[in-house]
Amino acid sequence: MSPTSSKKFKNPRAKYNFQGRSCSISGVGSYVPERILTNADLEKLVDTTDEWITSRTGIKERRQAAKDEFTSDMGARAALSAMQKAGVTAEQIDLIILATITPDMPFPSTACLIQRKIGAHRAAGFDLEAACSGFIYGLEIGQQFIMSRTYDTVLVIGAEKLSSIVDWKDRNTCVLFGDGAGAAVLQNRPNSHGLLTAVMGADGRKADLLFMAGGGSRCPATAESVAARQHYLRMEGKETFKNAVQAMQTAAKEALRRCELDISRIKCIIPHQANQRIVDAVGERLGAKPEQLFVNLHKYGNTSAASVAIALDEAVTSGRVQRGDLILMVVFGAGLTWGAAVIEW
Ligand code: UT7
Repeated sequence: MSPTSSKKFKNPRAKYNFQGRSCSISGVGSYVPERILTNADLEKLVDTTDEWITSRTGIKERRQAAKDEFTSDMGARAALSAMQKAGVTAEQIDLIILATITPDMPFPSTACLIQRKIGAHRAAGFDLEAACSGFIYGLEIGQQFIMSRTYDTVLVIGAEKLSSIVDWKDRNTCVLFGDGAGAAVLQNRPNSHGLLTAVMGADGRKADLLFMAGGGSRCPATAESVAARQHYLRMEGKETFKNAVQAMQTAAKEALRRCELDISRIKCIIPHQANQRIVDAVGERLGAKPEQLFVNLHKYGNTSAASVAIALDEAVTSGRVQRGDLILMVVFGAGLTWGAAVIEW
C-alpha cells in the first residue's frame, strides 16, 4: 500500500506518518561551478543578443564546469554539503540515487563514482535518467525505500555537466543550459516533517521533442556521428514549452489534490528552472501569487536534474522557507517526463 495515496487525510501531516515510518528531508545542499558565462559572452559565440535571451527566457548567466570538473565532482560536493547540514556521516548512507543525463561515462554509474568520492562505502547506488524531472523521481524512489523499511538514509542527488552535451554552434539551445548539482538527505524520522506526496508521469510518444541521438546503442560514437553533431542535445523549443506548461500544471494540481491542499497554503513553489515564461504561465494556471514562486534561473539557466535541487537548497539557505512551511516542487523534462512533490519543510 502506498504511504501517500492509500487514504485521504484532512491533516496532511498525518499522511507521511505511516506505520511508524516517515520520510523526512533532513538536509539539502548544492554546488555550482565558479565560471560564469554571461549573455554577453554568448553574443561572441553565436548570433544572439542579451535582449533576446533575457526577454525569451529570463536567463542572464549560467555556470560552466571546468574541463577537469565532472558531474561526479559537482554531485559529490552537493552531497557532502547536504550530509553536513543533515548531520549524517558517509557510513550512515544506505543508498545513493543520482539523477542525471550527463553521467561521467556510460558505466560504471556516476552514483558509484560519487560513492567513492564521499566515502559512503556501505551504500548501494544507481543512476536515474528522467532528464529534468529526475530529482523528483529520485525523491519518490528514495521515499519508497524508506517507507518500505528497506533503508533508513537515502541520498538523492541531481547533478549535470550540460556544457558537455550542448552544441555551442546552436543558438536555439546553447543559451539555455548550465552546470551544477543539488542534493537531499532523506531519513526515516517518525513524527517529523517530510515529503507528503510525489507525482510522476511520462509520455514516450513525445520523445522526439528533446533528445540526444548519439552515444547509445542506436547510434554509437563514430567519426560520422561526431561529424553530424549527433552527440549534442536537440530540442523543439516551442512544442516543448507548450507541453511543459500543460504537464507541470497538471502534476502540481494532482499533488495538491492528493494532500487536500489549496495553492494558497503553499509558502514556496519551486518550479523547474527552464524559462521564466514557463514559470509565470504555470504559476498563473495554478492561481499562485508571483511572490510564491521561487526563481533562480537568471543566475544558472536550466540545469536539468539539478535545477529544483539547487533551488530547494537556495530557498532554505536564504530563509525563504522555514521549518513547517509547505513547499510545492514541480518539474518537466525530456521523455517526456514530469513530476511534482509537496513537502512540509
Ligand atoms: O528542461 C526541459 C524543458 N525545456 C523547456 O521547457 C524549454 C522550452 N522552450 C523554451 O523555453 C522556448 O521555446 C525557447 C526559449 C527555447 C525558444 O523561445 P520561443 O519563444 O519558443 O522562440 P522560437 O523557438 O519560436 O524562436 C523564435 C525566433 C526564431 O527565429 P525565426 O525563425 O522566427 O526567424 C529563432 O531562430 O528566435 C530565433 N532564436 C534566437 N534568436 C536569437 C532562437 N534562439 C535564438 C537566440 N538568439 N538564442
